Amino acid sequence: MAEQNAGPDVAEHQVHADGKGQRLVVLSGIQPSGKLHLGNYFGAVKQYLELIEQGHECYYFLANYHALTTIRNRQELLDLTWQAAVDYVALGLDPERCYIYRQSDLPEVCELQWILTTITPMGLLERCHAYKDKVAQGLPADHGLFAYPVLQAADILIVSANLVPVGQDQKQHIEVTRDIAQRFNRIYGEVLTVPEPYIRADAAVVPGTDGRKMSKSYGNTIDLFAPENVVRKQIFGIVTDSATVEEPKDPDRSTLYQILKLFCTPEEAREWAERFRRGGLGYGEVKRVLFEKFMEELGPARRRREELSRDPDYIEEVLRYGAVRAREVGAALVRRVRDAVGIPNR
Ligand code: ADP
Ligand code: TRP
Repeated sequence: MAEQNAGPDVAEHQVHADGKGQRLVVLSGIQPSGKLHLGNYFGAVKQYLELIEQGHECYYFLANYHALTTIRNRQELLDLTWQAAVDYVALGLDPERCYIYRQSDLPEVCELQWILTTITPMGLLERCHAYKDKVAQGLPADHGLFAYPVLQAADILIVSANLVPVGQDQKQHIEVTRDIAQRFNRIYGEVLTVPEPYIRADAAVVPGTDGRKMSKSYGNTIDLFAPENVVRKQIFGIVTDSATVEEPKDPDRSTLYQILKLFCTPEEAREWAERFRRGGLGYGEVKRVLFEKFMEELGPARRRREELSRDPDYIEEVLRYGAVRAREVGAALVRRVRDAVGIPNR
């Protein structure tokens, strides 16, 4: 299960997704374990929006059972889950065109997870990064962290998803899901749909302000909904080398350029690359432009979020509506799985 280049997935799926009227089932989730950042936006949420636009049946959920592996404070988990729901809607996930729900509102997913664990080889999970890295650092790992990918497989398989939009870091988990589904089908017959990842090649790994992958756990994020002064500070904190204004700069080795590029059209990106190489461009100027572009792109969502956070009843209604649909589809799948393995349906 080596990490592969993201390219082929994208090419392959754009054919599918743009293909004449084929309606696919799409599912993705984000753990409500912190604030949404630019990595989540370009790596995941933009693709969520794109797939809604293409008319697919989309399920986007808040993985609060998964978040229990890191958040151990009851009020914090409740708050983060709620905030993530508001973020989703503010970012344009239209509740009339997709289903938004809390993972815990579809508890059948835990039953499916158990059934899947019974056919999941230990070795498959031992190779998964999150668990492997923790063990490699000599840290104690919980069973939840070990079993995490099986719950993720259940999330995906319970709605019979065809496509899973995610960033590159999640590719391994989709491979595990595919392995589990194929194994189940071999043993019990064709019950589960084998999904494919949907990864946008140019945003597969968004760098953080320190140049490593942007991640909540590295403290190197640019947050989508932080107050303006915090966002400015995060953007101006992007690491740069000590080149003077006059010196030519290599855009391919610049974290600042890599982030700026995400906001640019291909032509604009080429022009900026050119300006980097020519010299005479100061990093401060680029950061000012990046800040403006950020506000232009996220401004509408940031304003919508302010309004939405004053209307908790609406958000609750969105979540309830999404849960009803997810449960309808999910419970039916679990009935088929029970039937296939020999657990009586009541
Ligand atoms: P984090 O790494 O900050 O904890 P999550 O694991 O909650 O982020 O990721 C939620 C979604 O956003 C996943 O689909 C993940 O692949 C995507 N994602 C997160 N960080 C990045 C990044 N730096 N670049 C691209 N995609 C990302
Ligand atoms: N593991 C994912 C992450 O950390 C979140 C997640 C849970 C997920 N279940 C999923 C993503 C199902 C896609 C599909 O980002």
